[in-house]
This record gives sequence, C-alpha cells and structure tokens, in this order.
Amino acid sequence: AIAHAQAALPNVVILATGGTIAGAGASAVNSATYSAAKVPVDKLIAGLPELSKVANVRGEQVFQVASESLTNDNLMILAKRVSALSKQADVDGIVITHGTDTLEETAYFLTLTVHTTKPIIVVGSMRPGTALSADGALNLFDAVNVAASKDAAGKGVLVTMNDEIQTARDVAKTVNIKTEAFKSQWGPLGMIVEGKNYWFRAPVKRHTMQSEFDIDTITALPAVEIVYGYQSVPSTAIDAFAKSGVKAIVHAGTGNGSVADRIVPVLQKVRSDGAIVVRSSRVPDGFVIRNAEQPDDKYDWVVAHDLRPQKARILTMVALTKTNDTKELQRIFWEY
Ligand code: DGL
Repeated sequence: AIAHAQAALPNVVILATGGTIAGAGASAVNSATYSAAKVPVDKLIAGLPELSKVANVRGEQVFQVASESLTNDNLMILAKRVSALSKQADVDGIVITHGTDTLEETAYFLTLTVHTTKPIIVVGSMRPGTALSADGALNLFDAVNVAASKDAAGKGVLVTMNDEIQTARDVAKTVNIKTEAFKSQWGPLGMIVEGKNYWFRAPVKRHTMQSEFDIDTITALPAVEIVYGYQSVPSTAIDAFAKSGVKAIVHAGTGNGSVADRIVPVLQKVRSDGAIVVRSSRVPDGFVIRNAEQPDDKYDWVVAHDLRPQKARILTMVALTKTNDTKELQRIFWEY
C-alpha cells in the first residue's frame, strides 16, 4: 500500500520572553523559591519532544526577563514581532512564553493591536521546570496544541494555563501560589484535555481583526498610570503623576469605583488640566457602573467597565494613540 505522507504539520513559532516557565529552582522542592527567566527557548523546546507530533516548532528568544520588569518598549517590540510573523505564510500559529505576573497585560495588548485570525497563545507556568509537579511542560504542550488548531482561529489572543483556554481580555492572575492561578470572572472559553480542544463559548468583545487599533501603525504608547484607593489615601501619588505629565490616570477605587471625597477635586483638576480620568475598582470582579458612585457625565470621567486597573491601563494607552475624546474613550471601554 502506498504509505500516506504524514499530513504536513502546522508551523508554530514560540517567542520566549522569560518568566518562571524558563525558571530554574535550587531543588525539586523549590516550587516558589527559584530564579525566573533562565532557560533559553531552544532548551524549552528540546525538553518537550512531544511537540514534534503536534507542529513544526521553532523558537525565538525575544527577551529573557521576569515579567514584572517588562516595559512599554518591550511590549511594542514583542507585538510588532508577533504582527510580522502572523503575516508570514509559513507561520500558522504563535506561542508566547511569558512570566505569569504580567502575562494578562501583554495578552490584552496583543488582542487589541495584532490584526490576524491566526491563533496567538500566551502561556506561562507557576512552578519552574525543576520543581516536583511542574506545570510548564503541559502548559506549553497545550499552548502549542491550540496554536496549531484551526478551531482556535479568529477567537482573539488566548491564554492556556492549567488545562483551560482563557480569553486574553478577561483572564487575570488571581492566586500567586497555585497552579490554578488564572481566572476569568466570565469563565474560560474552553479546555484542552490530552491535546484536544473543547470549546464552550466565544468572546463578545472586539479583538484582533475587529479592532480599530493596529500595532503596525502605533509608534509610541502614552504614559498612563494607576493610583490605588484605600482609607485615608492622600493625593500625593496623583499630584506626582499629574506633575510628571501623564496622559491619563486610572483610579483603582474601592467598591463600585468609589473615590474618597478629598480625592474628587484632585481628579477633577487632573481632568481640567487635560489628562483623562478612568474610574476602575480594586474589587477584582463585577463592573463599575457609569454615574453611580460618581457623576461621570458631570466630571467628564470614563468608567473602566469590568476591566481591572491593570487592564484598564492597557486599553487607555492603546485608545489614546487614536483619540482623547472622552465620549469615544467610553465607547472603546464598552466595546473592547
Ligand atoms: N517573576 C515572575 C514573572 O516572571 C515569576 C512568576 C511566573 O512566571 O510564574 O512573572
């Protein structure tokens, strides 16, 4: 019988940026004490021979940085590389290995700015590969599986952690010491079990091809900073940010995005001096209601909807590359 040529495997590129998935611990019992961003991408791939049955995989070491230390410049370089690769006919999917601390920020930035229907998967691990019950190998196997899957196309940037497929927009690191760390308050999109994807829902917010933002036309990101609300908070941080010339301040308020009475006039002045004020909340779940805790129409402030402060900052930066009209900014927060 004529041997059937093995169906050509999809081509997946792994862009490595650092983090625990590239970490190494002192011993097998060090699941939390280790150095992140050590193992190079070719070693990550060599350590997972099972990948060769899923896709033709090649790696690029874009950075080797613990993700708490990534900057806007890193974000721009990474996103432009993802965009360029996504346009290549010999690339079917892209995986980004990343530290888990700020993985959700990178994933959201990519889903807002990279115009492709090809699967883009951001993945990390909570334990270094040297630890007992390390999670990086299976997380990376799952990420390459989804990146090689036709049924993952057009769903926006995805995050595969702990057998779940999460959408970049909703997912956040909610636990700092468990492998089941990444949660979306609206639930995962699906799961991967033994290399097979099981889908249960699709995103309703704009992303990738439907986005009005395009990394290929973004040259710089404006300064957008976050201030935290709590009892007895002074205006020192806001004053310093305002003086440094930020283009927007995200206020991580209490409850439904509440602002302390002594802070309201400070934020009003931030707005009247031309910067944007975005009301978010330190409460992780739920969403800020416009004109509820504060008269946003009257103060000309924007509400962050269900986006946590760190996600609201990413969207505000991207939105400000296009407009600083507050009605447009509020529309953008409803739609992305
Ligand atoms: N330093 C943290 C980071 O690079 C380690 C956390 C991790 O990657 O799981 O995000």
